[in-house]
Amino acid sequence: MSALQINSFKEYKEKYEKSVTDPESFWSDIADHFHWKKKWDSVLEWDFSKPEIKWFQGAKLNITENCLDRHLDTIGNKTAIIWEPNDPDEESRHITYRQLFVKVSRFANVLKNNGIEKGDRVCLYMPMIPELAIAMLACARIGAVHSIVFAGFSSSALASRINDSQCKMLITANEVYRGTKPINLKAVCDQALEQTPSVEKVIVYRRTVEPTDMTEGRDAFWFDELQKVEKDCPAEEMDAEDMLFILYTSGSTGKPKGMVHSTAGYMVGATYSFENVFQCKQDDIYWCTADIGWITGHSYIIYGPLCAGATTVMFEGVPSYPDYGRFWEIVAKLKVTHFYTAPTAIRALAKHPLSLVDQHDLSSLKVLGTVGEPINEEAWHWYNDNIGKTKCPIVDTWWQTETGAMMISPIAGITPTRPTFATLPLPGVQPVLMDEHGNEIPQALEPAEGRLVMKAPWPSIARTIYGDHQRYKDTYFSTYPGNYFTGDGAYRDASGNYRITGRVDDVVIVSGHNLGTAPIENAIDEHAEIVECAVVGFPHDIKGNALYAFVTKYDESKKSDDDLRKEINNLIASTVGAIAKLDKIQFVSGLPKTRSGKIMRRILRKIASQDAENLGDISTLLNPDIVEEIKSGAL
Ligand code: WTA
Repeated sequence: MSALQINSFKEYKEKYEKSVTDPESFWSDIADHFHWKKKWDSVLEWDFSKPEIKWFQGAKLNITENCLDRHLDTIGNKTAIIWEPNDPDEESRHITYRQLFVKVSRFANVLKNNGIEKGDRVCLYMPMIPELAIAMLACARIGAVHSIVFAGFSSSALASRINDSQCKMLITANEVYRGTKPINLKAVCDQALEQTPSVEKVIVYRRTVEPTDMTEGRDAFWFDELQKVEKDCPAEEMDAEDMLFILYTSGSTGKPKGMVHSTAGYMVGATYSFENVFQCKQDDIYWCTADIGWITGHSYIIYGPLCAGATTVMFEGVPSYPDYGRFWEIVAKLKVTHFYTAPTAIRALAKHPLSLVDQHDLSSLKVLGTVGEPINEEAWHWYNDNIGKTKCPIVDTWWQTETGAMMISPIAGITPTRPTFATLPLPGVQPVLMDEHGNEIPQALEPAEGRLVMKAPWPSIARTIYGDHQRYKDTYFSTYPGNYFTGDGAYRDASGNYRITGRVDDVVIVSGHNLGTAPIENAIDEHAEIVECAVVGFPHDIKGNALYAFVTKYDESKKSDDDLRKEINNLIASTVGAIAKLDKIQFVSGLPKTRSGKIMRRILRKIASQDAENLGDISTLLNPDIVEEIKSGAL
């Protein structure tokens, strides 16, 4: 697959040029390197006004034949997955491509044996164990659509995602340890299952020996089910545009968006970007520390690396257990060459003594990566100096759940890096900056700042929001008609390097997790003593951003502010999940509103960020006086 790799800055520029002038021939050259049961009739058909995007129409394929079958003759005995358990004393698992192929095929038969057919949705709520990879690939093998829900989400968040896509099956594990904390996933599932009538079967992987409550007729153990089936499972023939998976991401209204990814375009995009950005070689050991419950894990722990025939590391634990040197201990132990993590993790690790880094041999490292939020200068240099020892290029990869694959990023060792910049678009990606009025800000000698927009499609763009195409259109294609709006702001220097400045909508990235403020507000509003609230993000040393709520309560409320704060955070933990807990809760007598009643979050964001000197014109507010009160009580 290294045939996909760009080898020089000159080649980058040529490829980029070609990808703009002749995108169809550019992408069909790339797609030629995959395994197709039948090749495409047309490379691309698109219309952003509908919006409708179709890549490689007429082609037939199965992504698991690309991840597994086609490697068997060449690298069948190469390690596909190295699994590192939470507990450093438990043994790692090394799974070769051939072993993974057998496990996936067999589990695919378990799915079939339990009534799952092509097109059915299957929800995966699992810890970071190889069985998660096996289950997702098994779904893809038979053409079932996986919807992976991050196993830190609450039972009601899980239930609403299951219901939105009407999943027929839920796959989970009984219990898992993260650090010293046991988490009973099956118990969370049981609560969710009270509200999810579409689920007929639950398969439970026994990760620990703890007794597990099982519901007769509905629940079955993974291991028992395997005994009932054959090991061979032919790959279902899929159309290029068939749905591969759904992954939920936060939106600016309460309901999460089920982003739908296609089979062929997603495969091509994830693999092409993986190959280029990281530039892995045959014997390299690649580790992405994300959870597979997020898009980063989908594209860059599983699909991209496996299609490319790489060795990919999966880590069950947390960076702080048994101490803050765990990541570096694993790098030294496995001789990791490529390490991909989030700025929030880097900032958290940088707070601890350097001796936790220096006691481990990091000389195997060749390339470092970051994803998920802007990386600040200080964290970038700490990473570069102490982890990369100034010898490893840092790829700051900008992309989104919706883009499926990396869009703007250095290519390791090939294109220049610049601290805090995601730098240049990959060939095939056409970003532009727009001003608030929808005018394009052309590339010039002057640096510029604006909103980041894409003017042409790329293969791995999400095709719709499950069950709500109108929302897909409204969210991404209506702000700048004829273009895809990312929701991010960006700065561009005179050489065309981009630095992402952050979200311009109501999504806050907390510790690399993309959280919509709306569902959090809904949770707070459920409290009987709360009138209304507004949640905004503010900069935080470790988490990147943290959450700040401005809350009005009923006059009759008798509870102390501290008690109310605790109750609010408990409500959030049980509805959205513990990751959405608030750092600051300020009680106010009113919220600043426009005359049409819309809360002016822009003002609250500034107050929360301790940047309230220049609030702009507030005279048009319905209640301008409230601003002083809020400012003086700011936490
Ligand atoms: C932010 C994660 C700056 C951005 C793959 C984007 C980044 C959102 C970067 C998507 C980066 C991601 N620099 N900001 N390198 N990467 N973001 O859907 O705001 O979880 O819109 O996808 O994360 O988050 P998501």
